[in-house]
Amino acid sequence: LIIPVLLAGGVGSRLWPLSRELYPKQCINLFDPLKSLIQQAAERAQAVGIDAAPIVVCNDEHRFLIAQQMADLNITADIVLEPEGKNTAPAIALAAFQALSRDAEAMLLVLPADHVIRDHQLFGSAVEQAVELAQAGKLVTFGVQPTYPETGYGYIQAVDKGVVSVVQAFKEKPDAATAQQYLDAGGYYWNSGMFVFGAQHYLDELKLLAPAIYAAVAEAFAGRQPDLDFVRIDAQAFAQSPADSIDYAMMEKTTQAMVVPYAGDWNDIGAWAALYDLNEKDADNNVLSGDVLTHEAQGNYIRAESRLVAVIGVDDLAIVETKDAIAVVPRHRAQDVKFIVNQLKALG
Ligand code: GDD
Ligand code: MG
Repeated sequence: LIIPVLLAGGVGSRLWPLSRELYPKQCINLFDPLKSLIQQAAERAQAVGIDAAPIVVCNDEHRFLIAQQMADLNITADIVLEPEGKNTAPAIALAAFQALSRDAEAMLLVLPADHVIRDHQLFGSAVEQAVELAQAGKLVTFGVQPTYPETGYGYIQAVDKGVVSVVQAFKEKPDAATAQQYLDAGGYYWNSGMFVFGAQHYLDELKLLAPAIYAAVAEAFAGRQPDLDFVRIDAQAFAQSPADSIDYAMMEKTTQAMVVPYAGDWNDIGAWAALYDLNEKDADNNVLSGDVLTHEAQGNYIRAESRLVAVIGVDDLAIVETKDAIAVVPRHRAQDVKFIVNQLKALG
């Protein structure tokens, strides 16, 4: 049994004003006008033949929204609720315990709920290779060919290039100089953030490498209460868990990692610039969505949700209109939307 695990804990604050605390980016129809990112992720697993009921791990606050979105696809998911975010190592541990309650041999296909992948063919064959390796007792990651020295990703150094390989070293989020060295040296992949391994194997390795996380999550899961269709864990026990990502807590340390190269398209939709890059441009190199008119404006990402937006004589901006807020930012500074979100938080 291979179970898709959808990690849906983030809010995606750089996609404000569309993303909101109560309406996180994975639940928005960001890329496909008819489906949210988490719905696309659920269907991605099905499309490559991993059709067991998924396990979603998400924040308590988003439970009804996510349950509804799964129901809309006729997917019955186990939805495990986190009282607070503790990053991905604990979240995946919760999924692993839930998976073992279904099948002692269960394997996990871990998918972030906020990625866009359109190439199901290449993705499917990578997943197939990963499953084989996981069955042989490996912790498998998917490596993406890096194109620039991104500091927001993990880097995987492979022993063999271009083929399934043992991981020589895994370095999560290096600084810019180190990332550049990796690109110059060659033989490094970006970590895609997707993983395949046996549920029990993940927990065994976690117990070894991050015993405090393991202990807290084990206790939190043992104390779970059913709540409608949700799995509600023991909040007090979970609060004891250190917060850490699978990348730092396990992938940097384990000796059992293998990497499967994935050469298809892959995008971690972090900010508005990614939506510009991913979509078709018009004759003026604009990406327009919704009710938008332009005149002598080029290279803009313009998204109108509720009103007509008219843009004249400006270039290379991201402009996002919603009912109650509008953001205007140079496209290459789209990441800085987070500063506004911080100001809003400070205002309460
Ligand atoms: N349930 C749950 N709980 N999900 C979480 C939590 C949490 O506490 N924290 C993060 N997630 C989810 C996010 O919603 C996202 O779907 C996924 O886990 C990855 O978390 P990010 O916070 O987006 O990680 P990242 O982008 O900084 O880094 C990871 O992904 C990169 C590729 O996108 C790492 O795995 C990097 O190594 C990798 O390159
Ligand atoms: Mg991410």
